[in-house]
Amino acid sequence: MRTYLRNIAVYKPGKPIEELKRELGVRDVVKLASNENPFPPSPRVRKAICRAVSGINRYPEGNQYYLRQRIAKEFGVSEDQIIFGNGSDEIIVFAVRSLVAPGQEIVTSFPTFLIYKIAGLVEGIRVREVPAKGMRYDLGAISSAITDSTKLVFIANPDNPTGTYVTKEELARFLNSIPEEVCVFLDEAYYEFARELEDYPNGLDFLKAGKNVVVSRTFSKYYGLAGVRLGYAFARKEVIDLMNRVREPFNVNSLAQVAGIAALDSKEYYERIYRLFKREKGFLRKALSSLGLEVLDSATNFLLVKVGPKSEELVEYLLKSGIIVRHMKAWGLQDYIRVTVGQPRENRRFVKAVKAFLKNRR
Ligand SMILES: Cc1ncc(COP(=O)(O)O)c(C=O)c1O
Repeated sequence: MRTYLRNIAVYKPGKPIEELKRELGVRDVVKLASNENPFPPSPRVRKAICRAVSGINRYPEGNQYYLRQRIAKEFGVSEDQIIFGNGSDEIIVFAVRSLVAPGQEIVTSFPTFLIYKIAGLVEGIRVREVPAKGMRYDLGAISSAITDSTKLVFIANPDNPTGTYVTKEELARFLNSIPEEVCVFLDEAYYEFARELEDYPNGLDFLKAGKNVVVSRTFSKYYGLAGVRLGYAFARKEVIDLMNRVREPFNVNSLAQVAGIAALDSKEYYERIYRLFKREKGFLRKALSSLGLEVLDSATNFLLVKVGPKSEELVEYLLKSGIIVRHMKAWGLQDYIRVTVGQPRENRRFVKAVKAFLKNRR
């Protein structure tokens, strides 16, 4: 057996709503812990899923034929430059398993998305974490940390949990500074929330310009499809071909495949939700700042908030009030919590609870 697996911390996701309902015996639980879209998917998506349900006695299409065509058209990429995953999490695993051999290594930042490290360690691969600078990826230090053994670099852009991003210029400089054979995995799970920022780089432009990058995206965040699990990535044809060799034949279920197409066909619905989201993000930011809390600038659908030494107590207090947020100690940020922007009434309930907590504890 792989005894080293015992030393790997199991990833702890945000508490599920149903679990807290059972524990507290309450009906109205608010989850602001996993950066999901708080609204249901579009009516078109729901209809497509309902229609497809009667066919789930059959295995799904293993090559995601229609979804692949749709994504290729949407992004102007050839079909053999696309891979799909059971969430973009799975594509991270494909990249680690197919692009890095035992004895070679992965470089990333810290704090960042924890799955990069876990995926590497599970395969017995060394993962070097370069400390972030001012809560931002330090690409200069990452570039210097690359050795002959480095085969893969993970960059979450924007990053989770900090919400910060690397700029077009920084990324271009970084990609030009590293050896061609080092593959850079640009995890753009929050792309849709950052794309209107002028200096935010679209990773796909770098792939199209010939760089050795994998650009991953997801339907879990902006499109509100976290529950069906659907992610995709673009890369050079040879890289996709390698990743396909470690992919399970039916990794993307049939409901996810039709949901993905319907989501892309529901632009107006998602734009409407996005406008509401932006207002709510502004509200939340302002409300938390006015309570004297430090809120980081975020290019995503969540906020990283500095609460101070009482942060764990606050998370517990919120849980007891039926509100789930994330404490950041697993990311080494002892004084911080992360909160996802929710529906208007959820955000107000959260702010009210934080206010009540601070009033009694300060
Ligand atoms: C940076 C980042 N990458 C990837 C994911 C995984 O998303 P999914 O597997 O749902 O596509 C997340 C989810 O929280 C994330 O924050």
